[in-house]
Amino acid sequence: MAYIRKTIDEKEIERQQAVCARIFERVTADGARPLAMVDTYGCQQNEADSEKLRGYLAEMGYGFTQDEFQADVIVVNTCAVREHAEMRVLGNVGALTHSKKARPGQIIAVCGCMVQQEHMAQKIKMSYPVVDLVFGPHELWRFPELLEQVMEKHRRVFAAEKNDGAVAEGIPVRRDGKVKAWLSIMYGCNNFCTYCIVPYVRGRERSRLPEDVVAEARELVAAGYKDITLLGQNVNSYGKDLEENVDFADLIRMINAIPGDFLIRFMTSHPRDATEKLFRTMAECEKCAHHIHLPVQSGSDRILKQMNRHYDRAKYLSEIETARRYMPDIVITTDIIVGFPGETEEDFADTLSLCEEVRYDAMFTFIYSKRVGTPAATMPDPYTREDKQKHFDALTELANRISGEKHKEYEGKTVRVLIDGETGKEEYNLSSRTNGGRLVHLRGDKGLIGQFAEVKITASNTWALYGELA
Ligand code: 5AD
Ligand code: SF4
Repeated sequence: MAYIRKTIDEKEIERQQAVCARIFERVTADGARPLAMVDTYGCQQNEADSEKLRGYLAEMGYGFTQDEFQADVIVVNTCAVREHAEMRVLGNVGALTHSKKARPGQIIAVCGCMVQQEHMAQKIKMSYPVVDLVFGPHELWRFPELLEQVMEKHRRVFAAEKNDGAVAEGIPVRRDGKVKAWLSIMYGCNNFCTYCIVPYVRGRERSRLPEDVVAEARELVAAGYKDITLLGQNVNSYGKDLEENVDFADLIRMINAIPGDFLIRFMTSHPRDATEKLFRTMAECEKCAHHIHLPVQSGSDRILKQMNRHYDRAKYLSEIETARRYMPDIVITTDIIVGFPGETEEDFADTLSLCEEVRYDAMFTFIYSKRVGTPAATMPDPYTREDKQKHFDALTELANRISGEKHKEYEGKTVRVLIDGETGKEEYNLSSRTNGGRLVHLRGDKGLIGQFAEVKITASNTWALYGELA
């Protein structure tokens, strides 16, 4: 392999933490209690990155707020997967002129996938003077030094060079909840699906060492976390870039061996390399949730080929069959793109029929969004937005119907759930998840948060189940 996995030296992270200490002195000097706001768009990987940004900010002495008028530092962690998210980011960043005016000295940073695209970094440079700091995902590990440059030099800093990325260990993490935790096991993507911007902005696939992942999982279990989600753009590629002979199924087994009562989840799996070994391992590891998010994207072989997905409908369906053979109760969810360039009525009919065949527990559906620099952006696309919207609505209707039917099958059954938070509603005040990840609302004491419980399902709809403690 031409690509050599690059790691950031521990000393570099120590240096960043020394910068945090300097910033701490600076911003808390007069007994002040400075506040920061971190606003996150996009996927779970971004949520996990924001927990690192908060980890650094906490070391710098910042508390946290959701109110931009109270914040001394604002970090907007952006997404580039679809245009819609980018538009929202730009709108919201533009609106920060008001808070900055009201709070002179407020520092505004924009980071993440959107600004790793050169045209977007340029756009912010030229049209959003309110932004003081721009950095891409590869620069996250050195956020403290970038922030310090802004503070010291009183000038704008841009750091989003083209980059394959590296692996950085030891960045402090400040997690939001106490029950569920994200755990990144790898970064980047090598798949180059023709519609997708991710491989261009998040760099090449690189795995964390298994011992580092297992050590972090151990810490999470010791800290009382009950639900650990292993994250990667395509977790099935885990280990391919390591010298050690270890794959994703092996990693699940290692984490499963950690003593304690907790659940292992993961996302996302690419169907091109979801192996029988993976499904067998999931079935054999008692802590592994029976849920797989297996994005199919399309039910049409012609479109799958155009998307560069490296599997066809038959292979996909046989994987579903294998998964269900090992785990008859497995929850299966997916992502689907409607309106890929040149997608015809027949192609779309293939997607509908595949969904009827699989009967997904839940589907995440998207209208194709053209991404600058991807191969699909130059493919002929004769269909109108209205055509695509019609297909999208039809698919949503089908998805909702099937989810509703699947949820109905739970009624009368007793299932084990993990109670993970409050709903803010009176009738059903607690939220929980089944082993397969379906949402269950129930009534009970909030002292139960963080505990597993048996719940009898009494009602359901398309989006959730409702139950009572058994
Ligand atoms: N347009 C629409 N949806 C996209 N996705 C990725 N790229 C695009 C795009 N250009 C969807 C895919 C992927 C999910 C995270 O986002 O379905 O699985
Ligand atoms: Fe994008 Fe495909 Fe990689 Fe997923 S696997 S991040 S859809 S290129």
